[in-house]
Amino acid sequence: MTEATSSYRVLLVGYGGHGPTHAAAWRRIGLGQSMIVADPDPAARARALADGIPKNNIFADFRPCLDAVDIVDAVVPVTAHMDVAVAALSANKHLLLEKPATATSNDAARLAALAMQVGTVVQIGYQLRFHPLAVALKDLVTSGELGDPVYVAGESSGFKRLRSDLGVLRNDAVHFLDLTRWLLNKTPDQVFGVLQDDLHRGVESLACVILRYADGMVARIEAGRTGIGHNPDPFVPGGITTQVYSVVGSKGAAEINFHTGQLVHRLARFSNEERMSRPILQDAVTTEKITCSWTEATARSFRAFVDAIETKVLAPVPVCEAGVDLAILCEAIEKSAETGMSVHLEPNA
Ligand SMILES: NC(=O)c1ccc[n+]([C@@H]2O[C@H](COP(=O)([O-])OP(=O)(O)OC[C@H]3O[C@@H](n4cnc5c(N)ncnc54)[C@H](O)[C@@H]3O)[C@@H](O)[C@H]2O)c1
Repeated sequence: MTEATSSYRVLLVGYGGHGPTHAAAWRRIGLGQSMIVADPDPAARARALADGIPKNNIFADFRPCLDAVDIVDAVVPVTAHMDVAVAALSANKHLLLEKPATATSNDAARLAALAMQVGTVVQIGYQLRFHPLAVALKDLVTSGELGDPVYVAGESSGFKRLRSDLGVLRNDAVHFLDLTRWLLNKTPDQVFGVLQDDLHRGVESLACVILRYADGMVARIEAGRTGIGHNPDPFVPGGITTQVYSVVGSKGAAEINFHTGQLVHRLARFSNEERMSRPILQDAVTTEKITCSWTEATARSFRAFVDAIETKVLAPVPVCEAGVDLAILCEAIEKSAETGMSVHLEPNA
C-alpha cells in the first residue's frame, strides 16, 4: 500500500458527528493540509474551525467548492447522500460515500450507473473491512484452516444513542452484512428478518437477521440499542456495547472482538460414533491484542481508496456490491420483517 501523495485535494462534506473522524483520518494519510470542509450548520463550521481547519477552507455550501478538489468525501445524513454524490460525480470527482450508500436500491442502482459512466473511483464507507482483526479473520478463513464455513454470527449491540433518521439495520447491522459478504465472498439466497421499535422512536432499535446460502451456510446478524453491552463504546461517551463476529467452519471456529482487540480460534470437529457425536477440541489460540482505533481503520480505508485512484482500479468497497446489493438485501430484510415470511433473493443480492 502506498502512502497518499499530498497532491489530492479533499472536500469533506458534512462536519456533524462523524465528520471529525474523517478529517482526522485524512490528516493521518497526509491529505489533511489543504482539506476543504462544507456544512450548512454554523455550529458544525465552528467545530471545524476549532479542529484546525483554516477559516478560508470552511464553507456553508459544498457546490462552489467542487472545482477546487479531486476527492469528495460525503459524511452527511443518508437523505442527502444522492444530492452530494450526483453533484460530485457530475463534476468528475472521486467519491467516498458514507454508509449506507443510499436510502433505496433504486437510488443505489442510479448511482452505480452514473459511477460507471463517469469512471472515477467510488467507495462506500465500510471501514470494518480494513480493521486488522477483520483482515486476520479473512486470512484464517481463506487459508482453509477452519474448513468450510457453516455458520457465521455477528453481534453489534448495547446501550448507546439511537439515530432518528436510521434504524439499527441500516446504521449498524449493515457493517456486519457487508463484512459477511466480503469475508465469505458469497451472497445469501434467502433471508428472514425481525425489526423491533421497542423504544417507540419510529425506527427499529433491534434487528435480528438470518441469512441462508445455497451451500447450506447460515449467518445470524444482530444489531440493537438495548442489548447488553460489555465494553465502553468508542464513539458514544457513556455508551456500553458489544461488537463480536465469529465464523464456525467444518474444522474449527474463530471469533473477533472489535472492542477487546482479541482474535480467538481453535480447531474443533465431532467424532462420528454410533450413538453420540462428541466434540474433539484442540486448545484455543488467542492472538496478541490487535488494537486499531476507528480513526486508524478509517485511514486505512482511505489509503486503499487513494491507491485505487492512483492505480486506476475498482475501489476496494465498490458501489455495486456495497451499495446496490446491500440496499437490495436491506429491503428484503424489511419485507421479511413486515410480512413475517422469509424472502428469496436473486444471486448477488
Ligand atoms: N462508517 C461508520 O462507522 C459511520 C459512523 C457514523 C456515521 N456514519 C455515516 O456518516 C453519515 C453522517 O453521519 P453523522 O453521524 O456525522 O450525522 P450528523 O447528523 O451528526 O452530521 C451530518 C452533518 O451533515 C451536515 N449536512 C447535511 N446536509 C448537508 C449538505 N447538503 N451539505 C453539507 N453538509 C450537510 C449537517 O449539517 C451535519 O452537520 C451518515 O451517512 C452515517 O450513516 C458512518
